[in-house]
Amino acid sequence: METNSRPLISCQKHLFSIPENIHYLNCGTQGPYPKSVEALGIECLKRKGRPFEIGVSDYFQPSIDLKIAFAKLIHVSDFERIAIIPSASYGMANVANNITIESGQSIVILDGQFPSNYYPWARLAKEKGAKIKIVATPPIAAGRGALWNQNILEAIDEKTCVVALPNIHWADGTLYDLEKISARAKSVGAYFVLDTSQSVGALPLNAKAIEADAIVNVGYKWLLGSHGLGCAYYGPKFDGGIPLEDNWINKKESDNFANLVNYQDDYRDKAFRYNVGETSNFITTAMLTASIEHVLSTGVENIQNYCGAITAKAIERLRELGCFVEADAFRAKHLFGIYLGEGIDMETLKKDLIAANVYVSYRGNAVRVCSNVFNDEVDLNRLVEAFERQRS
Ligand SMILES: Cc1ncc(COP(=O)(O)O)c(C=O)c1O
Repeated sequence: METNSRPLISCQKHLFSIPENIHYLNCGTQGPYPKSVEALGIECLKRKGRPFEIGVSDYFQPSIDLKIAFAKLIHVSDFERIAIIPSASYGMANVANNITIESGQSIVILDGQFPSNYYPWARLAKEKGAKIKIVATPPIAAGRGALWNQNILEAIDEKTCVVALPNIHWADGTLYDLEKISARAKSVGAYFVLDTSQSVGALPLNAKAIEADAIVNVGYKWLLGSHGLGCAYYGPKFDGGIPLEDNWINKKESDNFANLVNYQDDYRDKAFRYNVGETSNFITTAMLTASIEHVLSTGVENIQNYCGAITAKAIERLRELGCFVEADAFRAKHLFGIYLGEGIDMETLKKDLIAANVYVSYRGNAVRVCSNVFNDEVDLNRLVEAFERQRS
């Protein structure tokens, strides 16, 4: 560490397989497994070579363990409100398919929102004659985050049926005041739906306080899990809904294998009906549970504070170079966007960052920088040095 500040936790690089000379600031694209989870994955993989050891309870209990871990992470007391989903788009399709919307009503979303939280709404609006109301991104200037939040609140009116947002903007980390927005949505009787894929695991989220109706989250980014496996929360408004699939395991009494063709009309309770088919993945499910438990034992607030501590100086230096980074009060600490200052050429910068083994991503006009517990100030210094070279 090249700092005197004292974050509550110290760098966990040694718990991950990322080499010393790699500056991986790209968890928003894909997170690594902790080493302990890699080892568990190998164990699970080998177990699949001995299928005779896999019993009926293995089809159910690992998924329940995952739901319990995710519920804990987002402060939901009832794990039965959690479903296992393969992607954010799948989780969101379950939501959009079970919303009653009338012609003339609106769906409020953000400009530049991630496509998986846009397409389901665009289709629904088209089918039902509803309107997509896009809250424009304010210009890059002081006060942008506050203005953006204000514009969201103002976009919600008596005609709003759904407010579908992220927790933070996926490209630049702008924070949205979910409690205020939720209260506004509730006051007009609108559904409040979230895609928290770029924040849960690194930024605290209290689903109870926010009172969202549904939350979808991928597993392969900040939850340090695999592709094809994420979690969603579905609140009581979705209890009687129709899932995307009529798969056998989501039906009542599906744990009675001898009786499966005594076909059931009813689904299992609460969110269970929205589980993707073949939820019993004997490898990735246990791995994601272990990764979430790793995050829980580190402490999400600690992770957020740690990221804040290791990025603070870098952000200061970037601003001195004329770059725009959202005001501290309106941005997440684990993910921020850099809008380039005058005279910094994006293409040259990209090449320089690659040569310096600095891994970031480019989203819209922003250079997206993600940090996590496996990063330290050295990683951020290598990033800023590439910007400084552009100036010299
Ligand atoms: C905010 C957000 N949501 C969702 C996803 C992934 O969506 P899906 O699981 O539908 O591929 C991403 C991927 O970058 C994302 O940034």
